Formats: sequence, C-alpha cells, structure tokens
Amino acid sequence: MGLIEKQMNYHHTYHAGNFADVVKHIILIELLTYLKNKPTPFCYIDTHAGSAYHDLFSEFAVKNKEYLNGIEKIIQQEQPPAYIKRYLDCIHQINSQLAHTNYSSLRYYPGSSMIAHYFMRPQDRIIACEHNPPVYQSLKLAWINYKQVSIHHMDGYLALKAFTPPREQRGLVLIDPSFEHPDEFKHIALALPSVFKRWRNAMVMIWYPIKEKFQVERFHRTIRQLIKQPILVNELSIFPDLHQHLNGCGIIVINPPWKLDQSLNKIYSWLWKTLSINHQGQYRSYLLK
Ligand SMILES: C[S@@+](CC[C@H](N)C(=O)[O-])C[C@H]1O[C@@H](n2cnc3c(N)ncnc32)[C@H](O)[C@@H]1O
Repeated sequence: MGLIEKQMNYHHTYHAGNFADVVKHIILIELLTYLKNKPTPFCYIDTHAGSAYHDLFSEFAVKNKEYLNGIEKIIQQEQPPAYIKRYLDCIHQINSQLAHTNYSSLRYYPGSSMIAHYFMRPQDRIIACEHNPPVYQSLKLAWINYKQVSIHHMDGYLALKAFTPPREQRGLVLIDPSFEHPDEFKHIALALPSVFKRWRNAMVMIWYPIKEKFQVERFHRTIRQLIKQPILVNELSIFPDLHQHLNGCGIIVINPPWKLDQSLNKIYSWLWKTLSINHQGQYRSYLLK
C-alpha cells in the first residue's frame, strides 16, 4: 500500500474517545479556557481536524472498542474535578443534541472542532482543515450553517502558511496529524519556524504518539533548535515503555500561558490515576531546555 493510500485509509473513528483522545481534548479545553480570560476575540486553527464527531456504535469504533479505556473510564468517575466535569458536560450535551437521547447516554464522541466550538464565544472563530476527501465532506456538512467555522480541504501544513497570523492576532493552533507518514515529526518541526516568524506569540499545541523513544527525543531536540519560544512538554503513558502498541501520548504547548504548567500537573495527575492500566506508565511535564 502506498503512503497516500495509507493516509487516506486512516480512520480516526477506530480511536475515537480512547485515552489519547481524552487527554488531548481535556488539554485543548484548558487552553481555550485560558484564551477566554480576555474578552478580545481569538481564532482556533485546527490543521488536521478529522470528523466533526464519531459514532461509537459504528463498525470502526466497535472493532477494538478503544473508548472503553478512555471516555468510558472518565464517565464512571464519581465527583470528578471541575476541569473534568466541564469536559463531560460538553460530551453529554453534544450527545443529547446529536442523538436526541437523555443526558447521560454515550453514543457519539466529538472531534476537536466540535469540542472547540462548544467552548467558544460569539466573537471567536474556527478555521479547520482536513485532507481526506470523505472526511472533509462530512466535516463541511456538519458545519455548513455555522458562520464562525470555516472548513478547508487542504494540507494542514499549507494551512499554517495560509492562515497565520489570523486577523485577531491571538489564538491557538492544534497540530494533530494521523502519524501515518514516517516523516510526520519532521514535517511538524519544519513547519514551525515560519509560523513564529509571522506570529511570534502564537500558542501552538502539538499532539504526538509515544511509541519509539528515540523518535520523540529527536523531535524535541529539533524543535528546540528551530524556535526560541518556550516549549512545555507533557507526556502520559498508561502502559510500561516498550509496549508494542501506543504506550502513551505527548502534548507540546509552545508559548504556554502563565501558570499552565501548574494546572496541567493537576490535570495529568488525575488523568494518569484514572486512565493507567494497573498503575503502569507515568506522566511528566517540563519546559524543554
Ligand atoms: C488524528 S486525526 C484528527 C483528530 C482530530 N483532531 C480530533 O482531535 O478529533 C488526523 C486527521 O488528519 C487528516 N490528515 C492526514 N494528513 C493530513 C494533512 N496533510 N493535512 C490535513 N489533514 C490531514 C486525517 O485524514 C485525519 O482525519
């Protein structure tokens, strides 16, 4: 199978609501909450947006039921802290809107654009890009009546060039590729310098899988050499290192808001306790030197 075919075959619904999705979306909400501390508008740019939402009863999602080790575990927690409760409220509200069901049932898992939209104010906007034609079509359809959301069928890295800086001059970029491409880490790193050249204060969130330690270390070294902005690294694994599959996931925040490290420490500590399999794995947060 060729690389392009492989990328087109990627179906995020297999992974929807898994532990890595949960971590990503909870941190995304935390960053959007920081942006909402000021009344001035912001722009959220989603370079690899995926679908607006995923059906957890579909053949893709039920194949491995990855959501059982993710959103299902979070939902079962009694009296979750405020930063989890606002995420769960979002998931439940979206479910009740999509399925017209009662508040507590879980059938759909929203994608990043839908979660971001839930937390936005009337003055904010979303630019979302998706490369895969059928996924783009469904995303476009889902947002067709929403003036605040513009959907683009384009390469996410080209979108970074085309849409930064946004006119608001404040906002968040989420870079969340499918990592089907062996050079994905390199593509991300090489896309960053020109973004910060045009938009020095951009807050950028990058999600990455933790499978091979050397790849991640090389990625960290490369971005540290390429840009001078502060870089906060957050990593969580739920299995021991060297597990054959996805051990964990990392989230890098470039230009993190003041005291983000403290709030993320609390969030990660709770997430690790809740999501780790038999207390395996670990979490850590640190500024990249
Ligand atoms: C991990 S998924 C996105 C998940 C989504 N951000 C979320 O949190 O719900 C990655 C998406 O990027 C798309 N994609 C792959 N290569 C791309 C590219 N070069 N530009 C834009 N989208 C791409 C894939 O089709 C897939 O839908």
